[in-house]
Amino acid sequence: MVDTSDEWIVTRTGIRERHIASNGCHSSDMAVAASKQALEMAGCSGDEIDLLIVGTVTPDYRLPSTACVIQEKMHLPNAVGFDIVAACTGFINGLSIAAPLIEVGRYSKALVIGVEKLSSFTNYADRNTCVLFGDAAGAAVVSREEGEGGVLSTFMKSDGNMRELLWAEVGGTVNPYSPDFSFDGRDKILMNGSDVFKVAVKEMGRAAQNVLDEAGLKPSDIAMIIPHQANIRIIDALAKRLKVDPEKVYINIDKYGNTSAASVPLALDQANRAGKIKPGDNVLMVAFGGGLIWGAALVRW
Ligand SMILES: CC(C)(COP(=O)(O)OP(=O)(O)OC[C@H]1O[C@@H](n2cnc3c(N)ncnc32)[C@H](O)[C@@H]1OP(=O)(O)O)[C@@H](O)C(=O)NCCC(=O)NCCS
Repeated sequence: MVDTSDEWIVTRTGIRERHIASNGCHSSDMAVAASKQALEMAGCSGDEIDLLIVGTVTPDYRLPSTACVIQEKMHLPNAVGFDIVAACTGFINGLSIAAPLIEVGRYSKALVIGVEKLSSFTNYADRNTCVLFGDAAGAAVVSREEGEGGVLSTFMKSDGNMRELLWAEVGGTVNPYSPDFSFDGRDKILMNGSDVFKVAVKEMGRAAQNVLDEAGLKPSDIAMIIPHQANIRIIDALAKRLKVDPEKVYINIDKYGNTSAASVPLALDQANRAGKIKPGDNVLMVAFGGGLIWGAALVRW
């Protein structure tokens, strides 16, 4: 499709495989599949969920939110559902919003989802982006429980000055779709990869340090880092910056590529189900994406 090679993709990104959802499988369908597994693992019924936050830049519709579609499909009659557009940090921002609302007692059980059908939004004629992105969903139940642990600290930040480094120029109210307009792929993901790369390494490192400082912990206290899976070189640079043993960094970019908001919850779930996270472990999640926006969450499992 484009002038590239397996060798270039693997050495420059670490990606070997990506998953592309079929035409009839929408963001809400992937989110429902993930959510059912999350509710099952949490031993909780749909009736108990009173807050539903969905991070996505690939909604089913422009209106209503994908959260409302998921609410209907999942039968969550007691929830308020809404989407957040925070690109790759969507899940971390969802968790950062849900945790304090639960802590103060305003809500009792949240379902936080990160889901993307990026294949619907990728220009397969652009080699700068089309080799990177995949489709996925991940979900977590966040609830108020007795005992030690929980969400220790969170951090969210954005800088809209850099929004044109990673964006879709056409399709909103500034440049609406029009039959007279040539899109030239500008309604799909456009990215200046090398500039984004530099900011990602710096700000993911800072975000991670920020949540560690707030919790009064050191990098050596982290049992597992769940980083956004955008590029293996970004992940390696982050581990080096934090001086953390690479063994403590969960990596699945080779199997899924960059799945934006789904990346962190997908990796978290896989690390957990693989037994790599134990009760009492400090787990650091950190992500970066279009906005530009970045964030981190530190959780005691
Ligand atoms: C996109 C990314 C993999 C590109 O890697 P890079 O080493 O920075 O490469 P550059 O963009 O500097 O491009 C280097 C060369 O490779 C080329 N190239 C880009 N994509 C290519 C591909 N798929 N196959 C072959 N060559 C490619 C470029 O055209 C450029 O060629 P030139 O020097 O002749 O102009 C990398 O920059 C990246 O991962 N960026 C961050 C992405 C990210 O974190 N996004 C935020 C979260 S969504």
